[in-house]
Amino acid sequence: MSNNNSQNKHEIVEKNVGLMAILTVFAISFGALVEITPLMFQDDTTKPVDGLRPLTALEMEGRDIYVREGCYNCHSQMIRPFRDEVERYGHYSVAGESVWDHPFQWGSKRTGPDLARVGERYSDDWHHAHLMDPRAVVPESNMPAFPWLDENRVDTTHTLKKLQIFRDSFGIDKASDRYDGKGYGSDEELQADIAKIEAMNGGQGATEMQALIAYLQQLGTHLK
Ligand code: HEC
Repeated sequence: MSNNNSQNKHEIVEKNVGLMAILTVFAISFGALVEITPLMFQDDTTKPVDGLRPLTALEMEGRDIYVREGCYNCHSQMIRPFRDEVERYGHYSVAGESVWDHPFQWGSKRTGPDLARVGERYSDDWHHAHLMDPRAVVPESNMPAFPWLDENRVDTTHTLKKLQIFRDSFGIDKASDRYDGKGYGSDEELQADIAKIEAMNGGQGATEMQALIAYLQQLGTHLK
C-alpha cells in the first residue's frame, strides 16, 4: 500500500478513545470560542441603543398578538445593510435595537415587506383598514384579514407578570426616564399603565386591534 504510513497515523486517533475524546473536546471548544469571543467584546450586541425604551403594557400585549397570529411567517423585522434594503425600508437594523426582544422577530421569510421600521409610516386608521381587509387598501395584497382582532378585548390577566419578568430579567434601570416619561417601573407604575388598557373605549378595555397597532407604530422608531 502506498499510503500505509498515513493510514497508520489515522489509526492512532481512531483506536485510542482517550486521545479521541481530548481532540473532540478541543475541536468543540475552539468552535465555541470563535463564536463567543467576538460577542464579549462587542457592546453593540448587548447594550440597548440610545433612546430604546421598554414597550408599554399595551404595546407588550400587541407584541404577543403579533406572535400569536403568526405575522412573522410572512414578515421579517430585520433590514439588512444592503443598498436596496436601506433605500426601501430605512436605516439597517442594529443589534442594540432588539436586545430586549425575546423571542426576537428578525425572521428571514418575506412574503410581505420587512416591518422593522414600519412604525409611524402609516396612520392608525390605515393599519386598521389594512388589518380588517388588506385588499381594501392594497388591491393586489395576498395578506390574510384579521377582523376578529377588532372584536376581541385585550386579556390583561398576565400583563403585570409579563412586565415584571421583562423588567427584572433585563435589569432595566428603574430610575431612568424611559417609561412613559416616568421611569421604569415600580409595580405601581406598571399597574397604572395596565389600568390605561382597561380604561380604553369607555372602560370596555382596549381591543386586540388597538394593541397590535400600538405595537406596530413603535417598531424601529427608537434609533436616533
Ligand atoms: C400570508 C402572509 C402574510 C401574513 C400572515 C401577514 N402578512 Fe402583512 N403583508 C403581507 C403582504 C404580501 C403584504 C404586502 C401587501 C399589503 O400591503 O397588503 C403585507 C403588508 C403588511 C403591512 C404593510 C407594510 C408596508 O411597509 O407597506 C403591514 C403593516 C403588515 N403587513 C402587518 C401584518 C401583521 C401585523 C400581520 C399579523 C397580524 C401580518 N401582516 C400577517 C403578507 C402577510
